[in-house]
Amino acid sequence: MTADGLRSYELKLLAKQAVTVAGALQKPVELAGLLARAESVRPSVIVEIGSDVGGTLYAWRAAFATAHVAGISLPFGSYSTLAPLNAHGATVIEADSHDPETRSRLVSWLAGKPIDVLFIDGDHSYEGVSLDFEMYAPLVRIGGLVCFHDIVLHFLHAVTLSPFVSTVGVHRLWRELPGRKHELVGEPSWWGGIGIVEVSAEVIEETRAPKLRVGQGMLHEAGDIYQQNVRELFGMVDAMRRYGLNADLARRFGDDATAMQSDKLRQEARYVISRMTRRLTVEDLAAMPEALRSAIEEAREVVK
Ligand SMILES: C[S@@+](CC[C@H](N)C(=O)[O-])C[C@H]1O[C@@H](n2cnc3c(N)ncnc32)[C@H](O)[C@@H]1O
Repeated sequence: MTADGLRSYELKLLAKQAVTVAGALQKPVELAGLLARAESVRPSVIVEIGSDVGGTLYAWRAAFATAHVAGISLPFGSYSTLAPLNAHGATVIEADSHDPETRSRLVSWLAGKPIDVLFIDGDHSYEGVSLDFEMYAPLVRIGGLVCFHDIVLHFLHAVTLSPFVSTVGVHRLWRELPGRKHELVGEPSWWGGIGIVEVSAEVIEETRAPKLRVGQGMLHEAGDIYQQNVRELFGMVDAMRRYGLNADLARRFGDDATAMQSDKLRQEARYVISRMTRRLTVEDLAAMPEALRSAIEEAREVVK
């Protein structure tokens, strides 16, 4: 095997470990692709927004042993699994990325160095991810990379008509961005997807676009994480029911239509539900409406 082949194998293995052992909320194939692309810019400074239990911090640290790695992550913020963080030796600023004070703390940590790779995986709402992009992309050097997780159109958006659908809006910002963009989308394609944009003057100009500032106020109205999770669950359970009952809705997904009707997708959805709810106690479940409780219990039973 060539040195390149060996390295590629190593990155695939690391990505798999990051997901299966360190708890990264990623698809191994997409994460391996991200690590390979990151390697092409020889990163010495890597920053991620949104670390959850530290699975992607593990990947950065293991793949780039000599790089400085920092995470900015709200403990138990939105889109979190509510499990404790393991920083795997990285520096973690446990604060809201949208707070200007957090950015100042990162700038102090950088001590004048530019970021080579920025991975944005924190607040997934359109407003939230746009603000992360605006605030932190200008700290990345020209030729460096800004990477986004969850760039695909999440299927809850497409299937449910309810206002409680998933608030993931990364795909909207991703579509708007100019520049040299590259997408990594593994199966199943109804969630995840990593978008990588190479930083150029044109991309930095976009961070100044006033349109992205619209809706910032909404960020602070998101409310309590528990409610948010429950709302997402409602959306998900609702979606499962709808697509199970109505094939027309499933067909709206075009390429995903076949997958939407398959047992495999149902299995994936149950897995997501059981994972999202794994920290809920018996008392939490007892306080929920019957329909939601039974959907969670059923998902957990099937995934066991
Ligand atoms: C989807 S998880 C990150 C997953 C992680 N990158 C991985 O792949 O394993 C999102 C994380 O972002 C955090 N988060 C959400 N909103 C945030 C914000 N405004 N500032 C900082 N962290 C935030 C959540 O608490 C959670 O830890």
